[in-house]
Amino acid sequence: MYRTNTCAELRIEDLGKEVTLSGWVQKARKMGGMIFVDLRDRYGVTQLVFNQDTNAALCEQAAKIGREWVIQVRGKVLERSNKNSSLPTGEVEIIVGELIVLNASQTPPFTIEDETDGGDDIRMKYRYLDLRRAPVRANLELRHKMAFETRRFLDERNFLEVETPVLIGSTPEGARDFVVPSRMNLGEFYALPQSPQLFKQLLMVSGFDRYFQIVKCFRDEDLRADRQPEFTQIDCEMSFVDQEDVLNMFEDLSKHLFKTIKNIELPDFPRMTYAQAMKEYGSDKPDIRFEMKFVELKDLTTGKNFPVFDGAQYVAAICAQGCASYTRKQLDELTDFVKRPQIGAKGLVYVRYEADGSLKSSVDKFYAQEDLKKWADRCQAKPGDLLLLICGETEKAQKQLCELRLEMGARMGLRDKNIFKCLWLIDFPLLEKDEELNRYFAKHHPFTSPKAEDMHLLDSDPSAVRANAYDLVINGVEVGGGSIRIHDGKMQAKMFEVLGFTKEKAEAQFGFLMNAFKYGAPPHGGLAFGLDRFVSLFAGLDSIRDCIAFPKNNSGRDVMMDAPSIIEQEQLDELGLALVKKA
Ligand code: AMO
Repeated sequence: MYRTNTCAELRIEDLGKEVTLSGWVQKARKMGGMIFVDLRDRYGVTQLVFNQDTNAALCEQAAKIGREWVIQVRGKVLERSNKNSSLPTGEVEIIVGELIVLNASQTPPFTIEDETDGGDDIRMKYRYLDLRRAPVRANLELRHKMAFETRRFLDERNFLEVETPVLIGSTPEGARDFVVPSRMNLGEFYALPQSPQLFKQLLMVSGFDRYFQIVKCFRDEDLRADRQPEFTQIDCEMSFVDQEDVLNMFEDLSKHLFKTIKNIELPDFPRMTYAQAMKEYGSDKPDIRFEMKFVELKDLTTGKNFPVFDGAQYVAAICAQGCASYTRKQLDELTDFVKRPQIGAKGLVYVRYEADGSLKSSVDKFYAQEDLKKWADRCQAKPGDLLLLICGETEKAQKQLCELRLEMGARMGLRDKNIFKCLWLIDFPLLEKDEELNRYFAKHHPFTSPKAEDMHLLDSDPSAVRANAYDLVINGVEVGGGSIRIHDGKMQAKMFEVLGFTKEKAEAQFGFLMNAFKYGAPPHGGLAFGLDRFVSLFAGLDSIRDCIAFPKNNSGRDVMMDAPSIIEQEQLDELGLALVKKA
């Protein structure tokens, strides 16, 4: 038997017991005639002691073992004289009577402790060692619990987990596909699913009624902290439902996860329309842990000979409470922040509402006190507050002001990771126009149904049509999204037409779906959560990478396996592909 107990189990009640433990040597230190070893396994750490006076030969053997060796020990549980209250096993130690080395280890390239000296790259290269560290393991344990509780919740509500294929044809979800060449069909390619969207809809046609799948999805898109090329969705679909039914079901699932895993009881999630979110926060995923809503000032700023505001389509402010004391240096920092190329604002105007009631601004040359007072009043500012104004073309300026609002929220400590504010974003536009290409794209995906009351605008004013589409936003993160689908073949064909598909192209790509719709498709809808994002929110992580066992880096590389990589000419020949030389 390799072990009688794990390295997290033994307590003061176990004194005197003979036990066997197995694990990794986290640390070994010599003190006088004693050697102390911290033995680690998945569950915790237990201190081992080797005593020179009672067993010199064993002590000699122990002196040879190094960090990360795998050992097995037999010994007796004793009370520690020097107790460690930060360790659950910290009141006891094992006085070792027998030591077996199960495997030696090279010295690891970084220390395998909660705080490590290893940088990102080296930890990713040796991810299997990084995963030995307790905080990294804790993230994966959390992930397991969330997936498990999700399965339990959905199973209790009659959802059936069905696996859908990974080698498929292209399903457009807005990103590029990863493709796989087919040896048996030379010159042809599978695509990896960006999501199981079409399959889950077909399962509804098949009468499955309630489906879910915890499933890998693949998208070849630019990577960010909250994006990986392969990620996991909790993908769900239901029949005979309207938007309200879907929102209620998955609000309940979200509340269930918060309650069972974080012991947080959440109130009902507020709903916000896309139009309101853009107007008040400049974003379709507003962080509502704090207010600081946009206040439009265009009418109050025009006609005072300040050409920048006069020429702008949009002028708006946020009010940072209690920030009038910001120094010149801090204001310059904020100006530099909005002028960074990623944000792209031309500049930033500020108004300090001083404690004595006077107003000092960076545009005093153009605006009198009573002008500034009108701005402050509209912003409901009080003495001590700071107004920050951005202007420009409406959509761009809103995005810039959104970044500034988030930055101010962070600076003012208003984005506490232990506070969770959930929100349903609803009434998304159905379509998005690409001005350069002069054509429409589906904002969510082409299978999303337009709102019945907007249907008549589909030909005359497509941009004004709203969709039965929704996102779950938590703390400014889009955690999930979905829609009520089109279940009528004619409507789906019309949608493809609006999206600029020729009849032939729609038939070639989606003929099977439109065909299926001819055989009794029930009304249906659903959504998908991004599991990685959900877990990283629960864990308070800055990047979803930290809750993925073997993630890719920002260039989409697996640095441990060194993938992607060049393949042999022979393999290329077999697939009918020409040799691609690495640039
Ligand atoms: P959508 O494209 O909105 O919808 O994706 C659903 C959720 O998946 C997560 N997500 C990602 N997570 C990590 N890395 C990525 N690259 C990534 N891309 C998306 C997000 C997002 O909210 N088939 C539809 C769902 C439906 O309509 O039912 C879909 O995939 O959290």
